[in-house]
Amino acid sequence: MGNKKEKGSILKILRLIREHGVVNVVKDMTLNSQVWRSFFRHGLEDTPKTRMETIINNSFLHLHPAKVKRHAPLFRFTWCMGGITFFLFLVLTITGVFLMFYYHPNVRDAYWDMKGLEYHVPFGTLLRNLHRWGAHLMVIAVWFHMFRVFMTGSYKPPREFNWVIGVVLLVMTLLLSFTGYLLPWDQLGFWAVTVGTNMARATPLLGHEGPFGNLLGMTAYNDIRFALLGGSLVGGNALLRAYIWHCIGLPMIVSTFLIVHFWRIRKDGGISGKL
Ligand code: HEM
Repeated sequence: MGNKKEKGSILKILRLIREHGVVNVVKDMTLNSQVWRSFFRHGLEDTPKTRMETIINNSFLHLHPAKVKRHAPLFRFTWCMGGITFFLFLVLTITGVFLMFYYHPNVRDAYWDMKGLEYHVPFGTLLRNLHRWGAHLMVIAVWFHMFRVFMTGSYKPPREFNWVIGVVLLVMTLLLSFTGYLLPWDQLGFWAVTVGTNMARATPLLGHEGPFGNLLGMTAYNDIRFALLGGSLVGGNALLRAYIWHCIGLPMIVSTFLIVHFWRIRKDGGISGKL
């Protein structure tokens, strides 16, 4: 019985091959097979329906909206500055992880690790410069993005919440840049962070020289500057703290806020319209 059925289906396939050609039969059988269908849950024809299904049925592509307004992908509207900022964040994350393989966050090794990158590690200079220039570019791009959002009035309701999320992202980007500056443990970074953290003395309430600091009993040994440096001077503890904020704390905060930022763009009806 089973044999008859098998023979029957083989004869059927041979007949189909005779009628439609081997290529068409193989293509048809592949596209209708259970394995193919479990991976690709939509047809191949170029229709609005399959285009939409392609996007919403794929884990990665569904992060994009299935439909966008006609002006939204125009370079002259967004300058792609938000996208470029995000791209640079990804480049910095990847190159940053590679840099972590060669860097020890302590006063004895940090500077020589950077020199080692330049002279001993294959493509080390390229890796370091991708990270350094990427960081400079990200700071520039995020400012341009903010400027574009302002000029197109995209901060207005319903996008005012996303503007505030953006402000947090801007501050975090600047803090990433600032904490990274200390890590090479060179003169430039050392004095920049000395000056920068000295300003923290004047923080209202939390700095020992700031307004109302004395009301909370702030001294040079318990104020916000002390917390940032892990001491009263820029030294080994400050380097370690900068490293942990730079490599773990701040990237986690930025990633969380980026998820909210992108989700809000979708919820606010996609990229804003022309003025
Ligand atoms: C790490 C920093 C940031 C990243 C990666 C980022 C990314 C993006 C992306 C990809 C878009 C889509 C449209 C576009 O590319 O212009 C966007 C839109 C938007 N961003 Fe940002 N952004 C960042 C910081 C900011 C800042 C600093 C602000 C403002 C203070 C801001 C406010 C907004 C607003 C309001 C929108 C919606 C714009 C519209 O609908 O036209 N973002 N962001």
